Amino acid sequence: MGAEPDGGPERRQLLTLDVMQRTGIDEAMIRRLVHAFYGAIRADAMLGPIFGARIADWDRHLARMCDFWSSVALMTGRYHGRPMPPHMRMGLERGHFDRWLALFEATARRECPPPAAAHFVERAHRIAESFEIGIAFHHGQTPPARRARPGWLAEAADERAATASTA
Ligand code: HEM
Repeated sequence: MGAEPDGGPERRQLLTLDVMQRTGIDEAMIRRLVHAFYGAIRADAMLGPIFGARIADWDRHLARMCDFWSSVALMTGRYHGRPMPPHMRMGLERGHFDRWLALFEATARRECPPPAAAHFVERAHRIAESFEIGIAFHHGQTPPARRARPGWLAEAADERAATASTA
């Protein structure tokens, strides 16, 4: 996850600055989003107990998730973990991912301006899908096709168009 995009550190810094300018995302916004999201997760009847059973040190988890989202959204390379393996062992099903994504999207829209929320949500969907595919293969199954989500797909397309026009 900490891999350098082509072109090394200088190009990565330019990419980070470009995303920050286009979306308004910065580390303070990431911290606000991550803390609000896991507040909602912990209060959720479906997902709260799954996290509650596995996370003993919430400060550590939140700090790690801030690093993760900094790497994912701003390409800072701050996260050095492997996110997939723990998710293989939790018995996660589509309903869990749908709930996680619904809470994430609602939190992002509440906490962030629209271009930033679209940026986070688009990446969350892609990563959730890759987790679902990884879990299905791990169990020797063919991953089911993701249901189209017209709202976020349209926004993802808008975002790609905006990126293309500024590239
Ligand atoms: C189906 C819903 C999900 C559940 C129930 C879930 C649950 C968890 C739990 C319990 C942990 C802590 C594992 C441990 O420390 O042993 C964890 C870690 C993590 N989760 Fe999820 N997760 C879900 C979906 C996602 C998604 C969609 C993403 C990314 C967009 C994500 C990213 C991460 C990351 C980066 C870690 C830290 C891994 C590490 O470096 O230790 N999770 N998750």
